[in-house]
Parts: sequence; structure tokens; C-alpha cells
Amino acid sequence: MLDFLSDETRRNPFPSYDQLRSFAPVLHEPRSDLWLLLDYEGVKRALNDAEAFSSVVSPPTARTSQWLVFSDPPRHTKLRALIMRAFTPKAVASLEPRIRELSRELLDQTIERGEMDLVTDFSVPLPLRVIAELLGAPVADQPRFRRWSDVIMALSHTVSGGDAAARVQEAFRVVTDEMRAYLEELIEQRRAVPRDDLLTRLVEAEVDGERLTEEEILGFFQLLLVAGHETTTNLISNAILCFIEHPDQLARLRSTPDLLPSAIEEVLRYRSPVQAMWRMTRRDISVHDQVIPAGKMVMPIIGSANRDPQRFRDADRFDITRDPNPHIAFGHGIHFCIGAPLARLEARISLSTFLERVRGFTLASDAPWEPREAIHVHGPARLPIRFEPG
Ligand code: HEM
Repeated sequence: MLDFLSDETRRNPFPSYDQLRSFAPVLHEPRSDLWLLLDYEGVKRALNDAEAFSSVVSPPTARTSQWLVFSDPPRHTKLRALIMRAFTPKAVASLEPRIRELSRELLDQTIERGEMDLVTDFSVPLPLRVIAELLGAPVADQPRFRRWSDVIMALSHTVSGGDAAARVQEAFRVVTDEMRAYLEELIEQRRAVPRDDLLTRLVEAEVDGERLTEEEILGFFQLLLVAGHETTTNLISNAILCFIEHPDQLARLRSTPDLLPSAIEEVLRYRSPVQAMWRMTRRDISVHDQVIPAGKMVMPIIGSANRDPQRFRDADRFDITRDPNPHIAFGHGIHFCIGAPLARLEARISLSTFLERVRGFTLASDAPWEPREAIHVHGPARLPIRFEPG
């Protein structure tokens, strides 16, 4: 079975997925009583079929129960419509110059050294600053954002239970209270003096005369911190990792920079930043002739679906010209990622700036890279690289 907790598997889960998928696309893991879905069609169905697979996976008392991603229709439909009002394409597109400026500033700080930890120096601070600015939070508050985000990320460990899980839950409770106090003040300010930022739009957004409650805004803010930053961080880091692992593809990209958007789609498929999500069966459900009983936790493994040879030719080949590339790295259907346009924009700007400025980059060490700890996301915790100062 898959050992999600081993570094080796988190660095390279793909051979295990292949092995399991070819054995059976639906598998029951008896120790955790988890049902794994491994093939493209099965994963896609679970992500979209809210009538059979519920997204309400946390108990109603859990603080994450307010999150859009863990809600079902009709509540999900209303919440999503409200958030979409605030998260407009115009608001995202207007960030482009600022993302470019931030990418340059971050590179300026390290470029002369000829080495950096890509994760700490570039792929973490960039999306974090973008999210903070999008919300309209003061720059001085950004270290707090990072700390909060780390605590929220650690929640994915609580599936294993035990003392460690209890400690993480407690830390999350403390952080939620801190965030609530912080947000209450910001919301108050926006009510008094509206600004052109996401928070003001969240406060003002209305659907059928209804507005978001403060608890819903807090839930969205927490989700935005993890969903909007951890994932994009991994996309940027994974892209550089893929380019280092596949020098022929990097050479191709350098000679045809217009391939960057397609290269980003291939990174999303090949090393999906979100490897898996959770669902709960609402009733007995038959998938590929296997019956998953009602009330069971299901893990649709996006990272495996995106390597399914039934759907992708040469699925284990990293090919920046792959076309079509119907990956489901941003999910599928009613919960499809709201931040996909922002993530793609951040990746495009940050990577093009990086590739213009940083030449001849390689891993700084022969040691295997250290993976992020959370079990459902995929990417390096650190990625020390060397390069020619440019
Ligand atoms: C939902 C992946 C970036 C906000 C999702 C889902 C996936 C995903 C797989 C579907 C979850 C499900 O079906 O249960 C990613 C990846 C990203 C990324 C791979 C970056 C490479 C972002 C960004 C934001 C964001 C930048 C916001 C700024 C959200 C939200 C949802 C979501 C709010 C919930 C949507 C809903 O439940 O209706 N994301 N995401 N994501 N994502 Fe992203």
C-alpha cells in the first residue's frame, strides 16, 4: 500500500500509483479505512458528483466546516457565487505588474550570490505577498500570514489521529482566534472606508439579498491562505524541479519562450501540486464494479489520475508541448479551483522572470530533495540551487 508518510513516496509517489492503479483503480486501505480512487475517470467523477460524494468531510464542530471547499450544494452554490463576485477576472489581471515587480525584487536579493533556496527565497514569498496584497493586508503583517498558513497546512496530518493530531488541532484553534480578531478589525475598517481590494468586495458581495457572514469571510480567508499560497508555491518549485530533471525540455523552452503556458500545464499534470482531495460517500456507491459503502472516506488521487495511461499517452513523460492536456490538477466540476487564473498568472510571470535572470541552474546538492510534510500536496520543502549570477 501507499506509505504517504515516507519521504521517498512523497518525493516520487508515481511508481506506487502506477502499481496500485494497474492492480485496481479503486482500493480499500484497511488500516485507515480509506478508499483510494486512482484512475482518471473515477477521480473526475468523485470530484464532481456531489450527490454521491460529499465534500463535507470535517465534523460540523470543526472550524474548517465553514470552508467553501468542504461544503455541498445548496450552501456551496450560494457561497461560491458570493466569492466569485469578489474574485473577478479583472481583479486578478490587474495584479500582473505587481507580480512582475515582486518577482524581480525577490531575485534582486539573491542573484549576486549565485545560489539560493528556491523555496524560501522565491516560491514561498511570492504567492504569500500576492495573497496578502490581494486581500489588502498591510505588508508588515506578512510574517503572521506565513505562520498561520503553516499551522493550517499541518491540519492534513490530523487524519492519522493521536497526540500529534490533538496538538495540531489545538494550534489551529489558537490561530483561528488570532485570525478572527485580526479580520474583525480589517472588516470594520472596510465597512467604514471601502477600498479597491478583495476584502471590501467580500464584505459588500450580495446574492439574493444575502451577504457573507463574518464567519464565512474568516473561512474563506483561511482557505485562501492555504489554497492560494501553498499550492502556487509548489507549482513554481515543481516547475523548476522539472526543468532541472529534464534539461532537453528546458532547452526547448528557452528557444521557444511562447511554450511557457503549455509547460506550466505540463508541470501541473506531471507533478500536481495538490495530489489528493477528500470526499465522503453519501450512500453505497459503485465505482468500476466496486461498491464503496455509505459514510466512508474516499481519497480521489489527482496526482495518479493525471498519470493515467488510459487518458494520457506516455503519461510518465514530461513533455512541455503536450496537446491536448486535459489534466485535473485544479479539480473538476462544481469545486473547480477558483484561483486557477491567479495561479497560472503567478506561475507565468514568476517563471518567465526567473528564466530571464537565472542561467545554468542546477541542484546545489546530490542529496535527495526534502518533500513538504503535508500528505495531500506535492513539492519540495527546500530546493537549494546554484546558478550563474545574471
Ligand atoms: C479548489 C488546486 C491555487 C482557491 C481547488 C481544488 C483543487 C485546487 C484541486 C478542488 C478541490 C476539490 O474538488 O475538493 C489548486 C492548485 C493551485 C491552486 C493546484 C495552484 C497551482 C489556488 C489559488 C487560490 C485557490 C491561487 C486563491 C487565491 C481555491 C478555492 C477552492 C479551490 C477557494 C474551492 C472551490 C470550491 O470549493 O468551489 N484548488 N489551487 N486555489 N481553490 Fe485552488
